Amino acid sequence: MEPKIIIHGGFFSESGTNDDVKHAKQEALREIVARSYAYLKTHTAVEAVAYAVSLLEDCDLFNAGTGSQIQSDGKIRMSAAIMDGVTSKFAGVINIEDVKNPVRIAERLLEYEDSVLGGPEALSFARGMGMEHYDPEIPQRRQEFEEKSVAAARKGTVGCVALDGKGRLAAATSTGGKGFEMPGRISDSATVAGNYANSFAAVSCTGVGENIVSAAVAAKIVTRVTDGLPLAEAADKTMKELKAFDGFAGVIGISAKGEIYHVDSHPYMVWAAFSSGVETF
Ligand code: GLY
Repeated sequence: MEPKIIIHGGFFSESGTNDDVKHAKQEALREIVARSYAYLKTHTAVEAVAYAVSLLEDCDLFNAGTGSQIQSDGKIRMSAAIMDGVTSKFAGVINIEDVKNPVRIAERLLEYEDSVLGGPEALSFARGMGMEHYDPEIPQRRQEFEEKSVAAARKGTVGCVALDGKGRLAAATSTGGKGFEMPGRISDSATVAGNYANSFAAVSCTGVGENIVSAAVAAKIVTRVTDGLPLAEAADKTMKELKAFDGFAGVIGISAKGEIYHVDSHPYMVWAAFSSGVETF
């Protein structure tokens, strides 16, 4: 089977005034998807999605890992999840501070029975696995926070979905949240609404977490594919339901049949896919 991979970098500004940022994000996605595809050729889907999302977390153009948005109390709290379509195991880390790669904690949690951790205990777990203190803040985010630039927030979550050469699927998603949120708020990214995979399909979401959770987006799309709908129809039907309450979301997905699809409620999602060649938008 031909391996396939698709990644997203969330949304770029709706203002249309910062095309440079959009192009920079697309260039970064193009490079990361090519590196991740090369990695996927010699690794499993679940290893490849963790790798791709860790590269996205390390790129400060995106709202995940380094470059994450700042919450209303001035702190960064990050969330990430991974799901292995082979074992149907979901693992995640919620609202963690002071680490470099939240997705690597989620990946490690796949090995544990208690596979979703939050808050200070998640941080203790991360330190226990050898993850050192790291400040993910960049000066631009602090400036946006101080200017109360809400327009700069609510975008940039990252994610990856992969189908490996043996037909195995996986999804991973990571976020700094929506920016300016109340401390304690839970993002969709470390829930089955924002990240879901089984042996039929895998999906990662970006957008406003509350909307994504309300529409159970990723789990619903994967369930619909499991029940026989083609991936595009399953995703479009779910996005239509989101429209009923003017939800803001973007989706990437791959099915076990090799279908690859992306759709967004607002045409600002940046993504890149690699199967027989690179495609970006
Ligand atoms: N989708 C990221 C969030 O709303 O937290």
